[in-house]
Amino acid sequence: MSKSIVVYYSQTGNTKKVAQAIHKGISQTGGQCDLARLKDVEPQELTGYDLIGLGSPSIHARELPNVTAFINHMELLDGKHAFSFCTHGVSPGFYISRTVSALISRGLIVIGWNDWFGAAWHPLLPKPYFTDGHPDEIDLKEAEDFGREMAERSRRIYQGETELIPTLPKGKEYDEIYRPIHEVPQHFQRLLNRVEFKINKDKCHYPKCTYCMDNCPTGAIDLSMDPPMFDRGCDLCWLCEQTCPSGAIEIDYEPLAREHVPLTEGDLMRSSKLFEAKGRFRRLVPLEDIGWDTNYWTFKKPRFKIDY
Ligand SMILES: Cc1cc2nc3c(=O)[nH]c(=O)nc-3n(C[C@H](O)[C@H](O)[C@H](O)COP(=O)(O)O)c2cc1C
Repeated sequence: MSKSIVVYYSQTGNTKKVAQAIHKGISQTGGQCDLARLKDVEPQELTGYDLIGLGSPSIHARELPNVTAFINHMELLDGKHAFSFCTHGVSPGFYISRTVSALISRGLIVIGWNDWFGAAWHPLLPKPYFTDGHPDEIDLKEAEDFGREMAERSRRIYQGETELIPTLPKGKEYDEIYRPIHEVPQHFQRLLNRVEFKINKDKCHYPKCTYCMDNCPTGAIDLSMDPPMFDRGCDLCWLCEQTCPSGAIEIDYEPLAREHVPLTEGDLMRSSKLFEAKGRFRRLVPLEDIGWDTNYWTFKKPRFKIDY
């Protein structure tokens, strides 16, 4: 009997829901399928699986370093099967190409990939946002079907139908599907370089509370240092600032928001319309309801609870 596992990393729960649906789909095909959070699995433990699914959000157009590190620490799994998936608020960007190449570099045969839109809780994006409401029931049904398809394809490839192994589109063809807008990451990167996380010691409950340290995907925070360390390997995913239970992590948002929102508005609008025209995006929030005038960063913190 074949053995599969779906491993996921999630911050606000979108990828978790998709991972659960994929797991449900694979389980329907009769084989054994495990579902696990990235932080609960040692990458070296994956040697016993015939099919490995790995998913996370696309953050700054790629996977977070904890996902990259997870793949790099896998044993060489020559000839075993894998698939990659992500959720995103605009498009996967480099996520699919980067993770597929990384999985192949571990000796895995990548038999598929997929992506879904997910509600975005980014301090510099409007609220309501284009993709709010996703993944919905229809998305999750698709994810379930994808899981079944992966299990079925894997079985057939193991039986010799190697022509079913897909080839990831490259260059322009890839960009058209997964990176319809290029400008955002560039200008965004310049802004990100200026973001500074500061800790308000009057609000911080360390050592009683270690929430930010425990949940930082790159282990970048060390509150035991004086001043607390916030930048060793920080990937600016904003999780700590958004979820600190006492709102002790602070950023000077005014200058960022002034530059970011007008630059981004046109790109996001264009991208959402493009995907809608291609039939890849089902709009659940009418365009006139997008909260361009709502500064999500001004919302009371914690802005959400981590949902792994
Ligand atoms: C800091 C940050 C950066 C993000 N960068 C991107 C991005 O480059 N492209 C994109 O499409 N979505 C981006 N998103 C949106 C997330 O990918 C999306 O909300 C995802 O579904 C979250 O998944 P989760 O609920 O599993 O954490 C970003 C979100 C955050 C908080």
